Amino acid sequence: MHIDPLEKKWMYVVGFMTAVMIGSMAYAAIMLNMHPPSNVETIDPKTLHLSGEFAEDNLGATTNPDGSVTVRMVAARYSFYPQMIEVPADTDVKFRITSPDVLHGVHVPFTNMSTMVVPGYVSEVNTRFSREGEAQFLCNEYCGLGHDYMWSKLKVVPKG
Ligand code: CUA
Repeated sequence: MHIDPLEKKWMYVVGFMTAVMIGSMAYAAIMLNMHPPSNVETIDPKTLHLSGEFAEDNLGATTNPDGSVTVRMVAARYSFYPQMIEVPADTDVKFRITSPDVLHGVHVPFTNMSTMVVPGYVSEVNTRFSREGEAQFLCNEYCGLGHDYMWSKLKVVPKG
């Protein structure tokens, strides 16, 4: 089979780029232990507000015995509950978020805090914030007419 030399050259270029991309993904997954947030944990979206982990009085930030913080939030049309979360800087923070209605997203600009919130599932994100001050949780999945107004506050305070 005859292959034009120019075409052959580009086949090598494309082959090399594919190898670099697959190689970097494999490196990140195996060596750096980086994976997409996929916490396959289910919850009944119809009853999550009535009792258990996501009942209203159980939402917000809790400090664990080891000093880390767990934040429980509900993303619902059109806000995040509670509407203000305060966490210490330079501390491991685990977010546990779920939705009772439709698909939402949570994103804090300039941080790696970003995940989809799928009804029926609990999304989990582990992160830490090094910069003190106020930031916003923004919804980054179109969830209806109020999507643009769906946000809440994050306050990062000095540790201790
Ligand atoms: Cu919630 Cu967009």
